[in-house]
Amino acid sequence: MDNNAIIQISELTKSFPMGKSAFTALRDINLTLGNGEFTGLIGPSGSGKTTLLNIVGSLDSPTSGEARVLNQSVGRLTAREAAQLRKKSLGFIFQSYNLLAVHTVFENVEFPLLLLKIGAAERKKMVMDALEWVGLTDKVRSKPPQLSGGECQRVAIARAMVKRPSLVLADEPTANLDAANSHHILQTMVKLNEELKTTFLFATHDEKVIGYLRRKIFLLDGKVAKDEWVKADQTVK
Ligand SMILES: Nc1ncnc2c1ncn2[C@@H]1O[C@H](COP(=O)(O)OP(=O)(O)O)[C@@H](O)[C@H]1O
Ligand SMILES: [Mg+2]
Repeated sequence: MDNNAIIQISELTKSFPMGKSAFTALRDINLTLGNGEFTGLIGPSGSGKTTLLNIVGSLDSPTSGEARVLNQSVGRLTAREAAQLRKKSLGFIFQSYNLLAVHTVFENVEFPLLLLKIGAAERKKMVMDALEWVGLTDKVRSKPPQLSGGECQRVAIARAMVKRPSLVLADEPTANLDAANSHHILQTMVKLNEELKTTFLFATHDEKVIGYLRRKIFLLDGKVAKDEWVKADQTVK
């Protein structure tokens, strides 16, 4: 395995059983992502972006081939090992935020730290740092229903980042946001990528997101159609 690689996918296919036959959602995927990348899987709806992101996130397994994430082959992990990988090293951001409505912003962001059994004083500091990164320290006692969509997604980013994971997976993170909020959360993620060296992998078909990516991997019908790097001065800042 390439030492600097955080994700290494080889000869990966994924099929879903459909009655007596099967539907192939991903085929012949070969990809390597290095540490610190700010990369997106781009493609129309149904092209396989979420399926691939879920496999990288150890939420699903390949049908054949391999996906190594932080040097672990996700299809071969037990449920407990996969849960450990997610808990310690991965952050997830979804289109629908997935916040707990009855809990405060503080409690939502604190949740991954409880799973890691981090003590109360350190948890408080880490939560406040994460809320500072996304500019929401003044909403610490609010609950998600009292926040705008953009604020909810910023809470979700803080929750994904609070344990300082090596890899953040973001599936259509701007799908429910207006342009101003989309740019704001993307600028936040670029800053975290630069300052904390967190690797980001997006699944998106939003041109606003695509403008910030440094590497664009195009999927079409479950295959990599194009894989291109963008020069630093050609991304949005
Ligand atoms: N659990 C599943 N069972 C059957 N087909 C699925 C399942 N998940 C995804 N698919 C199919 O795989 C294809 C790719 O889906 P998905 O990865 O969600 O695409 P995208 O995120 O690019 O819109 C689609 O045709 C979808 O219907
Ligand atoms: Mg999707």
